[in-house]
Amino acid sequence: MTPSYPVSRPRRLRRTPPLRRLVAPVTVRPASLVQPLFVKEGIAEPQPVPSMPGVVQHTRDSLRKAAAEAVAAGVGGVIVFGIPAVKDGRGSAADDPDGIVQLALRDLAADVGSDTVLMADLCLDEYTDHGHCGLLTPTGEVDNDATLDRYAAIAVAQAEAGAQVVAPSGMMDGQVRAIRGALDSAGYADVSICAYSAKYASAFYGPFRDAAECAPQFGDRAAYQQDPAARDALREVLLDVGEGADIVMVKPALAYLDVISQIAASVQLPVAAFQVSGEYAMVEAAAANGWLDRERTIFETLTAISRAGADIILTYWATEVAQQAR
Ligand code: PBG
Repeated sequence: MTPSYPVSRPRRLRRTPPLRRLVAPVTVRPASLVQPLFVKEGIAEPQPVPSMPGVVQHTRDSLRKAAAEAVAAGVGGVIVFGIPAVKDGRGSAADDPDGIVQLALRDLAADVGSDTVLMADLCLDEYTDHGHCGLLTPTGEVDNDATLDRYAAIAVAQAEAGAQVVAPSGMMDGQVRAIRGALDSAGYADVSICAYSAKYASAFYGPFRDAAECAPQFGDRAAYQQDPAARDALREVLLDVGEGADIVMVKPALAYLDVISQIAASVQLPVAAFQVSGEYAMVEAAAANGWLDRERTIFETLTAISRAGADIILTYWATEVAQQAR
């Protein structure tokens, strides 16, 4: 029976693809996507990462090709993670001008530095033999303030090598202020800081620790990364804003859409979200089993992250999605 009174019919706007397209404000823009890339010292061929099918640890050469491909696809940026051949207690390779990340940044700055945004993850866990994101006290705790000096030195080394954005991911208190100060005094006032501001102690980083060979050798990161059950995201973000962050990031993404939405509503800075290794691995594994439609799932997760309020999304699918969007 047709009702005799006017009925609100949302389905009217879903009737045809052009209507749906017209009324959908959320888009996944290639220029908003950032491709994470791993580069490893001392390998002759790219090494597949078993828990992240399709992702490899690059040689310097294959990294250059991957970055060129990402840029040709139209991604907004690339973020480089380095894996040194030798690790030690203070993560010496992280700020070595001839360390793998600095060499790779110089390569990419020359190749694609004027066509894309060149970002560098700024942390110690890939470089320390104990796998923690900071220096340790004699009793094995992460020493917040001593670590800040290391981060400051790494920021300057990365900027000197051509990074246009440094992305501190270690969750030390005061890290943005320390890095901003070091960059400014070294003449890199133009280098931006994308702060991993709301970064949770997450099981979703599991595959990354294979890719970057940085699993903590003892303990976990729960004493510095955020507790998923705590409500301290906005506090962390506002501190970083006050210390000079240019972009604030939430990580992981899909399980933290409420946090992305809260931050996007609360600050005037661009908000980034990191769709992390475990989010990638879950979809790839389910798709490989025929349990999920891979492309639709990827697109739906990115749409959700974008709808929540992320302006920038770091995703291992960046190049592929950008290629499809063209
Ligand atoms: C720390 C860092 C991590 C990730 C990005 N930067 C690992 C961690 O905090 O344990 C995770 C990224 C991912 O899982 O894709 N340098």
